[in-house]
Amino acid sequence: MSTRVGAVVPAAGRGERLGGGTPKALRPLAGRPMLLRAVETLLASTHVTQVVVAAPPTLVDVVGQILGPGVCVVPGGGERVDSVRTALDALDDDIGVVLVHDAARPLTPATLVDAVATAVLAGHPAVIPVLPVTDTVKEIDADGRVVRTPRRDMLRAVQTPQGFRRDILRTAYANRDLPVTDDAGLVEALGVPVTTIPGAEEAFKVTRPVDLVLAEALLADSLARDGQR
Ligand code: CTP
Ligand code: MG
Repeated sequence: MSTRVGAVVPAAGRGERLGGGTPKALRPLAGRPMLLRAVETLLASTHVTQVVVAAPPTLVDVVGQILGPGVCVVPGGGERVDSVRTALDALDDDIGVVLVHDAARPLTPATLVDAVATAVLAGHPAVIPVLPVTDTVKEIDADGRVVRTPRRDMLRAVQTPQGFRRDILRTAYANRDLPVTDDAGLVEALGVPVTTIPGAEEAFKVTRPVDLVLAEALLADSLARDGQR
């Protein structure tokens, strides 16, 4: 397996739950687009040597301008899986390890990117960062009635970047019809073991307006701390 690490960034979503008009990846956080922050973090990691971004199809040129010549930008698709599949195809042939990272996780620390890459390079075919869940989670039926309550201590909330051997992720993505909400879900369906490592609180996904408020507050806090040094 080649040990060269590449990253793909799905950034083509409309951000319907966030609202506000502008596509979510281009929404500014402390004045700079979320996507730019996510890409800079990937490039700041010691492992990542190529980044491919899936942008909203009408904004490929705009996103290319924002990110500069070092980043490849491709048009995304209708669903996240379509965007990831297109971006995967644009990676250089000699990339052997792939990280898939949401543009919507702009405060992810570079140390988490490195931890995921390191675990894949150490021989784990699929690696995901996870955190314990704090709310109790219920499974419900179509009428909203509770079916069961899984043990909370056995549940984890899953973040990105998720890291994979490239050959395995390519095979997983050939299964286009599975209803999964993350990349590891496709890999699990192949029967490949998926390894968990500790995630980071700051790697939360900006999904709803309250997440944007939290992200702005965290950035203001860290800028204030830097100013005090
Ligand atoms: N994404 C993508 N292509 C799509 C849908 C989503 O590249 N067709 C990306 C988003 O841009 C985001 C990541 O996948 O970086 C996670 O998706 P999500 O948080 O659901 O973002 P959106 O789909 O934009 O938001 P919403 O579901 O609220 O519309
Ligand atoms: Mg979505």
